[in-house]
Amino acid sequence: MYNKKNLTTNMGATVGDDNNSITTKNPAVTTLNDVHLLEKLTHFNAERIPERVVHAKGAGAFGFFIVTNDLTKYTCANFLNMPNKKTKVLARFSTVGGEKGSSDTKRDPRGFAVKFYTADGNYDIAGNNTPIFFIRDAIKFPDFIHTQKRNPKTNLPDYDAYWDFLSLTPESVFQVTRLFTDLGTPDGFRHMDGFGTNTFIWYPNLDNYYYVKYHWKTKQGVKNFSNDAAMEVGGKNPNYSVEDLYKNIATGNFPQWDLYVQILTPKEARDYKYNIFDVTKIIYEEDYPLIPVGTMILNELPNNFFNDIEQAAFCPGSIVKGVALSPDKMLNARAVLYSDAQQKRIGPNFAQLPVNSPVFDINNYQRDGAMNTSTLSAPNYFPNSFGGPTPDASAIKPTLKIEEGDLAQYDEAVIAIDYEQPRRFYEELTAEEKQALINNIKGHLGNALKRIQYRQTAVFYKVHSEYGSSVANALGLDIEKIRYLAEVSDEERAKLTS
Ligand code: HEM
Repeated sequence: MYNKKNLTTNMGATVGDDNNSITTKNPAVTTLNDVHLLEKLTHFNAERIPERVVHAKGAGAFGFFIVTNDLTKYTCANFLNMPNKKTKVLARFSTVGGEKGSSDTKRDPRGFAVKFYTADGNYDIAGNNTPIFFIRDAIKFPDFIHTQKRNPKTNLPDYDAYWDFLSLTPESVFQVTRLFTDLGTPDGFRHMDGFGTNTFIWYPNLDNYYYVKYHWKTKQGVKNFSNDAAMEVGGKNPNYSVEDLYKNIATGNFPQWDLYVQILTPKEARDYKYNIFDVTKIIYEEDYPLIPVGTMILNELPNNFFNDIEQAAFCPGSIVKGVALSPDKMLNARAVLYSDAQQKRIGPNFAQLPVNSPVFDINNYQRDGAMNTSTLSAPNYFPNSFGGPTPDASAIKPTLKIEEGDLAQYDEAVIAIDYEQPRRFYEELTAEEKQALINNIKGHLGNALKRIQYRQTAVFYKVHSEYGSSVANALGLDIEKIRYLAEVSDEERAKLTS
């Protein structure tokens, strides 16, 4: 008879003994008819799914987002349509390069992904704790990530590969500079800001649209570790950030972030001095100030980490009415790629898992696949005359104007304007922050081959002569050689340092 407290097999039969497998008496030979033993061991063998190919180490929690500002003139997104409106969210924070078991205080950008369970479907903002990225074309992503992971021969982190790629890809220098300040080692996930990083679109109706950048501001205050503290804390407790999030939520100290947006009309975007679709660039707040949107409060720990966080699938392509994808080519690639990764990592029906499914039943003509639990049946094609679901034209997005439609592989060589923002970032650091930056670079780049140190330091010199000279001094490099390498073209520098 079913008794809630009884231990059962997967099929519901009560288990009589969970400590002793069925064997002969003496000697003990195990028999194949111990179905419970076999079920228990074979299920155990299948417990793991692949970790995320990037952002493997992380933690997350549920909570809610509450609107504080009326922005209906910019977007018809249902979850933003009135002040005080609350929407359930899931947030996941992560490091990028390290494996699932790696230290979460290491120097690395942090993922900052939020899923809004809106009445119009799920909206995912899978951003980072940095407003910029290392590369501006998705075609470079696998190469970049390979240099952040283990060397295929030594199976060790590889300083040469790390700096070889970055120094040959000078568009990365803003992100690299930011990463090597103490912003690269946040004191846990609660003490960092977040960014949508890519540029998105909001629209109130089909006649107007705006370009939007998201900013999450931590209400816990930004707090970073010094390089030494990050290494010491992470050495003692590689789960420092995961534990910090868990313990604070468990004790009722719920972390909060305010969401802001920068908004530009298409004309303002066209006229802006920087390309707002280049993910290695920011839009300055003095040009387009932050407009408050609402607040996210994380107040609910996952009941089962694997189900709710490991199997969570955030996808930049998961957008709702009122939001659209901008012509940001990194975003365009990301929008279609993540669900492919999730089909491989979790399974073709990952979207049906409770953590990933919307707050209402989905309605479409996709069927079958492994582990399908959908109750959708016939008809399984469109159009049909049997009362199946039909598209609603009010969900069509505004038409995006493409000015030059010629298809080609356009060369985006790094030019003078690309050094302006990292230069200003460097100039705005305090003397103490500059010192930390130089020390942090020395401790890392100093492990790479000398010729690579020269190449990267020349890139720093191109950002700012003081910056390049300080790194050169710290690493004991010949400053005249650095100056020369900074003057020649990227191709020539690569040749001279190969
Ligand atoms: C084109 C360049 C990029 C590619 C190809 C890419 C690819 C991926 C892939 C395959 C995953 C794992 C997805 C999963 O298994 O669930 C992932 C995770 C993630 N990516 Fe990217 N990524 C790119 C750029 C970026 C950028 C620019 C950001 C920040 C704005 C970002 C933020 C994230 C975050 C936060 C996660 C983890 C989401 C989570 O917590 O589950 N990625 N990325």
